[in-house]
Amino acid sequence: MSGQSQAQSSGVDWRREAVQGNYAERPPSDPGGPIRIWLYSDRISYGPGDPIRISVNTNAQRYSLEIYRDGAHRQLVFRRDGIPGTWSATDVNCSELGCDWPVSAIVSDTESWRSGGFVIKAFATSGSDGVVAESEHVVIIGPDRQTRTTGINDRLLLIAATATWTAYNDWGGSNHYQGLSGPKGNDFSPRLSIRRPYARGFVSIPDEAPRAVLLDQPGILEEPEYPHMEWAYRNGYSKKYVSAGWASFERRFVIWAEKEGYQVDVISQTDLHNDPTILFGYRCVATIGHDEYWSWEMRDAIDAYVEGGGCIARFAGNFMWQIRLEDGGSTQVCYKYTARDRDPLMTTGPRHLVTESWEAGEIGRPGASTFGLNATQGMYASWSGCSPRGAKGFPLYRPDHWAFAQTGLYYGDIIGGQSGVFGYEVDGLGYEIRGGLPFVAPGMVAPAGMEILALGLSSTMEEGDSIKTGQTFLGREDAEYVAMVLTGSADEASIEKTKRGCGAIVHFERGKGQVFHAGSSDWIMGLVRDDQIVAQITKNVLDRFLAL
Ligand SMILES: [Fe+2]
Repeated sequence: MSGQSQAQSSGVDWRREAVQGNYAERPPSDPGGPIRIWLYSDRISYGPGDPIRISVNTNAQRYSLEIYRDGAHRQLVFRRDGIPGTWSATDVNCSELGCDWPVSAIVSDTESWRSGGFVIKAFATSGSDGVVAESEHVVIIGPDRQTRTTGINDRLLLIAATATWTAYNDWGGSNHYQGLSGPKGNDFSPRLSIRRPYARGFVSIPDEAPRAVLLDQPGILEEPEYPHMEWAYRNGYSKKYVSAGWASFERRFVIWAEKEGYQVDVISQTDLHNDPTILFGYRCVATIGHDEYWSWEMRDAIDAYVEGGGCIARFAGNFMWQIRLEDGGSTQVCYKYTARDRDPLMTTGPRHLVTESWEAGEIGRPGASTFGLNATQGMYASWSGCSPRGAKGFPLYRPDHWAFAQTGLYYGDIIGGQSGVFGYEVDGLGYEIRGGLPFVAPGMVAPAGMEILALGLSSTMEEGDSIKTGQTFLGREDAEYVAMVLTGSADEASIEKTKRGCGAIVHFERGKGQVFHAGSSDWIMGLVRDDQIVAQITKNVLDRFLAL
């Protein structure tokens, strides 16, 4: 019996379990029971021509594999049927160690595949009762060498937020949020393997799956509700499907962009980490969605690209944590809130690579110096107990900026309020209002000449008459951590100083390049929900950057 049905049949408060519980998918220890199938690949991303090694675990006698390029037009590139199924026992700690299943299929004929996201589907049919089992994985195919060597081109390069995918992927029981570690077996894992399946909802989701940002206004004294986690729990999806993955963000952006006529290449953050020259030749590089985890090397690549004349269009939020990639890139490390106590580099050094917030003194590289904004000056908005009746969009202060051409927007308008683009995590900065306009507050780290175009309110914690301790999703952990990082103390007075943040849209020039940053995780929903103003702003930015 699944965790869900146990809770429902035993009368346990399933709504509470949906929000507080860890119901991540874990493989059974033996091959009995209903037909099952899972798969993963040996890497997150590949170049055209690279072989893809696929590991499949199934109790079916035979199964099929299908691979298609996922975009505005779905293109089948591979199919193989009748592959003999094999079952391997899986370590209980597979989220950290990897699944270590044998390679089941090697797909070598990838030379002609056009850069993008490729979904690998494994499916099987039970001979006895005809029940079908299926599972999906996704890999990124980067641009071919010819595209990369033709010099400045008009193709858009999307960097998929794959480090955030890994961080939130709870397949096997652990991610960077919850898990099976520690003395009570319920701590998050600071080390995660990429060699495991993606949780259900990371590769595809139904269009009707709720988002975290609430479009409906809660009624008077209504307690926070979490429709997306309840939906995930009731339908057997990952609790984190709204937070990360191809399905929610990059897939939707590629589909929108290709329908609008853009030529889109896609790389992973691991590609960026390994080879900063992969950006060369592109006028415009974009990120979308929830883009929370970056390595030192990835930031180096972005900074050098912009200095040299590249343009970044970041329609994403929650720039928060430094990661390290270890074991040849197959393990992602992030100790987060516990880094000062547990990250071995605190003792051995180099300390600037300790895996905590970019604003931490050990690191000495504030996030705002790359993207203009950061998570510690922002955080949560438009859901839970964090402004659930808020504007849901960005209040506009500087409508004369070129990004708002052909929109008809006015001072004080809300960008994307009806489509819910503001939240659930936003990036902000310290600011002050003068003459009805926001400016970078004195003493704050920010790129020279940066303009704050739009700005709304956010917070690091839930507070209010309807908030009951222990009943809501967010605790005090974020508020205490941010206070500690920004002030050196997590006491009440420090939290009081740091708990109120903002989410902003900013633009600045740096070296020969430029950065436009709409600092919110759900900007994509403006494009998905056909919000014409959000789409026009997105096109204004991409078109201008691609033409420079
Ligand atoms: Fe996040």
